[in-house]
Amino acid sequence: MTRIILIGYMGAGKTTVGKALSKELGIIFYDLDWYIESRMRKSVSQIFAERGEEGFRKIEYNMLHEVAEFENVIISCGGGTPCFFDNMDYLNQQGQVVYLKADPEVLYKHLLMAKVERPLLKNKTPEELITFIREQLEKREPFYSKARYTLDVNLLDNYEKIKISVAKIRELLNI
Ligand code: S3P
Repeated sequence: MTRIILIGYMGAGKTTVGKALSKELGIIFYDLDWYIESRMRKSVSQIFAERGEEGFRKIEYNMLHEVAEFENVIISCGGGTPCFFDNMDYLNQQGQVVYLKADPEVLYKHLLMAKVERPLLKNKTPEELITFIREQLEKREPFYSKARYTLDVNLLDNYEKIKISVAKIRELLNI
C-alpha cells in the first residue's frame, strides 16, 4: 500500500509536484484544500471568512482524517496542516511524508505569481508579505522538519525542475 504525503509552506509546489508524481506513478492524487472545498461546497476563502481560521482548522483536521485513510494515494496538504493539533504525528503515522523545503525568497516569488486566492496572505503589501513568510516559516519549520523525508525545492520553477523533483522523490522513497 502506498500513501505519499506532501507538506510544506504555501507556494512550495506541493500541488504541482503531487500531480506530476501522480501522473508518473499512476496513483490517484488528492489535494486536501480541493477535497475540503468539494466536501463543504465552499472555497477555502469562504470558510475562513465565515468561520475564521479556527473554524477552518477544525474542518481541515476532520477532512485530513478522511483523506489520510485512503489507500494508494498521493496527498498534498495545506501549508498549515502539519502545524495544528497532532496532525504532524498523525501524518507520519499514516504515510511517507515528504517536506518540500524552500527559502522564504523563493516562496515569496512563487506566491506573488500565484493565481489561487490565499486568505492568510490577502491585502499584504510586498514588504509585509516577505516579512510574514519569514516569520511564519520560522514558526512552522519545527513541525515540517518532523517529516521523514525532506526535498529542497528551491530550484522548482520550470517543467524540467519539476521532473527532477519527481525523480528525487522516487529515489528517496525507493519507488
Ligand atoms: C494555508 C495554506 C493553504 C490553505 C489555507 C491556509 C496555510 O494551502 O490550506 O489558505 O496556513 O499555510 P496551500 O499551502 O496549498 O496554499
